[in-house]
Amino acid sequence: MSSPSTRHGTVPAGPADPVDVPGTGTAVLEIRDLAVHYGGVKAVDGITMTLAEGGISGIIGPNGSGKSTLVAALTRLTRLTRGELTVGGTRYERVRPGRVPGLGIARTFQTVRLLGDLSVAANVQLGYDARSRAERRAPLRGLPGPVAEALERTGLTDVARARPSELSYGTQRRVEIARAIVMDPRLLLLDEPTAGMNAAERVEISALMRQLRSEGLSQLLIEHDVQMMLDTCDHLFAMAQGRLLTEGRPADVVADPRVQEAYLGKGWKADAADQ
Ligand SMILES: Nc1ncnc2c1ncn2[C@@H]1O[C@H](COP(=O)(O)OP(=O)(O)O)[C@@H](O)[C@H]1O
Ligand SMILES: [Mg+2]
Repeated sequence: MSSPSTRHGTVPAGPADPVDVPGTGTAVLEIRDLAVHYGGVKAVDGITMTLAEGGISGIIGPNGSGKSTLVAALTRLTRLTRGELTVGGTRYERVRPGRVPGLGIARTFQTVRLLGDLSVAANVQLGYDARSRAERRAPLRGLPGPVAEALERTGLTDVARARPSELSYGTQRRVEIARAIVMDPRLLLLDEPTAGMNAAERVEISALMRQLRSEGLSQLLIEHDVQMMLDTCDHLFAMAQGRLLTEGRPADVVADPRVQEAYLGKGWKADAADQ
């Protein structure tokens, strides 16, 4: 007896070489032919990417290859020369930057940006207030539930009353991550979250990201530490000169001769880096 329909849910009409997606296999964010040109500088020049729901995607590439410009485009902080952006099924390449958090996209910056005169909890609450102005007016006895929860998820409950300046750089970065996830985003963008950190702090951030993935949070990580990318990401994109060089399983991407030449240098070995 034949089935009346051969369809099994949604099969995305995509490239011939299907994207290796973890999690549910659906896309949290789609980038189509994205270009950002600054005068004659083609910072991003025709990028098409699908970020998998529930996974950690990563981007590697040399300095100046366009990674931060891509993040600026995804958060609408820079003007697109062309391209389409879709998050959670909604096209958003024309929305104002202020609407991006409401679409479920949160980010951390390359350099830590916290208010040093406020406590850890107050910094995290800023992320919450940005979303929920109405609640800001309500008298708050203790912390709003989502703020307390974000502190808990990032292991910051014990230092909630400290000032960021009293904390290690790695812990300050966790405060930024807490401030981003308090908005309950569908996607978290992290642009070089471990820049300037020691190896132990990098491991800590990687572990936090994997914990957040296990809780269902999709993430996009930009990072120079290739070993961290191998340890953290489900899927890797390699960029060079504003373009996508290749993508796939992290180990395969790192082993790709084009990536080796553009970025890694001939002597790099995954095994040697972390043992
Ligand atoms: N606002 C800007 N105006 C002009 N050029 C820019 C601007 N932002 C970035 N660029 C240029 O775009 C290219 C990509 O930069 P960037 O996205 O910061 O790369 P990455 O993050 O990979 O190091 C570089 O050549 C950079 O100098
Ligand atoms: Mg950058």
